[in-house]
Amino acid sequence: MKLTPRDRKLVVAATRARKHCYAPYSRFGVGAALELEGGTIVTGVNVENCSYGLTVCAERNALTTAVGKGLLPGKFTALAVVTEADAVVSPCGACRQVLAEFGAPDTRVVMHNLKSGETQLTTLGALLPHSFTPLSLPR
Ligand code: THU
Repeated sequence: MKLTPRDRKLVVAATRARKHCYAPYSRFGVGAALELEGGTIVTGVNVENCSYGLTVCAERNALTTAVGKGLLPGKFTALAVVTEADAVVSPCGACRQVLAEFGAPDTRVVMHNLKSGETQLTTLGALLPHSFTPLSLPR
């Protein structure tokens, strides 16, 4: 897969958002940006807590914000995650499951590392194969 101009725009949005992360404990800032159908971009950052387990990742914060703006299942097209680490970082397992509820297996995931400048591209389906989705439940 090749990086598109839209992917790059999403990385810029996630990078800008990351400046507002609240990560005083890990000092590991994460910015996320979701592209909704129609092109709207919604961002999120990681928000930590002194009760460490209450920390919420940037990806889930972006997703819950998007739902508050009317995002419906199947209607987000891409996600960018931006960090500054020794290697490119991919969404954690909990975020993958939550993203799978609203994305599709072919939803693009763009991971960018500010330290190295490296960008990797994958899909939600590759990050969480055989996922448990709303379609898994009996009707
Ligand atoms: N974090 C994210 O925001 N997204 C991820 O995909 C991985 C981890 C945050 C949680 C915590 O604030 C910090 O990064 C270190 O784990």
